[in-house]
Amino acid sequence: MDELRQQRILRQHILTDHLMGVGTVPMSILPQAPAASERPQQAMPPRQQRPTPSTPRPSNFQLSNQPPAPKPSPPATSVIESLWSRITIPNAAGNESLTVEEKQQLLDQMNTMEVSTCRQCDLCKARTQTVFGEGSATAELMFVGEGPGQNEDLQGRPFVGRAGELLDKMIQAMGFKREDVYIANVVKCRPPNNRTPQMAEVQACGGYLLRQIAIIQPKVIVTLGGPAAQLMLNTQTGITRIRGQWHTFDALKPEGPSIDVMPTFHPAYLLRSYTHDNRKKVWSDLQAVIERLGK
Ligand code: URA
Ligand code: SF4
Repeated sequence: MDELRQQRILRQHILTDHLMGVGTVPMSILPQAPAASERPQQAMPPRQQRPTPSTPRPSNFQLSNQPPAPKPSPPATSVIESLWSRITIPNAAGNESLTVEEKQQLLDQMNTMEVSTCRQCDLCKARTQTVFGEGSATAELMFVGEGPGQNEDLQGRPFVGRAGELLDKMIQAMGFKREDVYIANVVKCRPPNNRTPQMAEVQACGGYLLRQIAIIQPKVIVTLGGPAAQLMLNTQTGITRIRGQWHTFDALKPEGPSIDVMPTFHPAYLLRSYTHDNRKKVWSDLQAVIERLGK
């Protein structure tokens, strides 16, 4: 590893320890960050080549308004599993080669033509507006939360309240800017009183998230809190048991990639329970993500 990169990693770790409140090294010794233009360009390892499906699929640059044809229902093993298995991903393989503009266009199209006027579940009744998600359409790192809260519902943007401020710090501490990553939620409308989304709501809305993932194809997804992790990973195991370990999200397969998932605590939980132990756990989860992304 070259010296510049070592310095950057060290700097990031100290900064993050500090931001997460678990720092033991004074900030004053931090080496200055190199200017963006001085940074080595090849920090990211090349993405894995994925096998091309033997039968080429039709181009999918336009998202149709037609709901995708349902796949035949598999024997239901769990409600969560049936969510992903019933959603057909439109040509996830082709999406890998799209430009950032093309990906952004697909996302915008889904947002304006479908999500912003969606009435597929009862959460539409009390919303001020939908919260689609935002960030880089080619992000290598995606965060998935549970659903909009009050501030998000008012502003139409994800994670803009207090939890969002902490998420911003987490992103910054990892060496990213908010606009480098993509941030979305499992449901796009605010559940009343910020309750956990119900399974019927997740089933109605989950297809949008899955399509966002299929378009962006991030390398790593960090799920925030129990419900997001349980949905993405098709498990009912609690967050305290599944956080901190790598999992895979395989719903885009076989056409698309398998995506690495790191579940961690929700920043709102961290704010409520701001213990040294919890902050240390979240930071260690984020460190694993930094390593995985080769930052
Ligand atoms: N909590 C979430 O899960 N998502 C948001 O967008 C805001 C708070
Ligand atoms: Fe539609 Fe999702 Fe909002 Fe339900 S939560 S109305 S499925 S956008």
